[in-house]
Amino acid sequence: MRLVTDWNRYHKRTRISQRFLWTIWRAYSDLLRGIHFQKPIKIIELGCGTAYNTLQMTKLFPVDKVTLVDFNPSVLNDAQRRLSCLNCEKEFLLRDLLNLNLNEKYDIVHSQGLLEHYTPDEQRRLICLHRDLLTPNGITVILVPTPNLPYRLWRGFLEKLNLWIYPDETAISKEEFKTVLESSGLQILKMKRCHLIELGAVCRRGSGYL
Ligand SMILES: C[S@@+](CC[C@H](N)C(=O)[O-])C[C@H]1O[C@@H](n2cnc3c(N)ncnc32)[C@H](O)[C@@H]1O
Repeated sequence: MRLVTDWNRYHKRTRISQRFLWTIWRAYSDLLRGIHFQKPIKIIELGCGTAYNTLQMTKLFPVDKVTLVDFNPSVLNDAQRRLSCLNCEKEFLLRDLLNLNLNEKYDIVHSQGLLEHYTPDEQRRLICLHRDLLTPNGITVILVPTPNLPYRLWRGFLEKLNLWIYPDETAISKEEFKTVLESSGLQILKMKRCHLIELGAVCRRGSGYL
């Protein structure tokens, strides 16, 4: 039987770890360096969790609308509170991403900490979802953990202490990540290692999907 991550337990941790959120955001801002938008944009975050990265993006770019999707009601409530200071249009969708049908298109479609909790087939479906939600000139930003030495040491250490809370997580190698992004119709604009254990990619729709 496949054990799934208990997201309530995860969110109890991140509520108290502002430093963790800041580390991830620094990785995002590094990936977004050099990207500019002339007009106010629409952003969607898939598996938004705290929504912290969307909040930070609104300080980098002119924003017309943000859409946050998560299937955990208490997480979405917290995200709503966190974004209450924003003046742009806001939409909070309590939905399962594997059954999400939206007609709207977005200039930035992003996720972090999502793909690695799914089977290869589901990962591909989720990547195609990122792709299909993009405007023609939009970009997608995806961050996943990668099985490098720091990741293996950190995970091994937490597993030994019985503190590892992600039973369904499979870290994704650079080659696997590149292959699945490209074969799902995305063109990679940038791919780099982020902080110690994640890989981040910035992509746009490949020419066959414009
Ligand atoms: C690692 S957390 C994301 C953390 C987020 N990047 C942040 O900065 O807080 C993954 C999130 O994805 C959500 N999630 C996982 N699978 C989902 C699905 N199929 N549909 C909707 N939300 C999902 C979980 O509820 C969780 O909040």
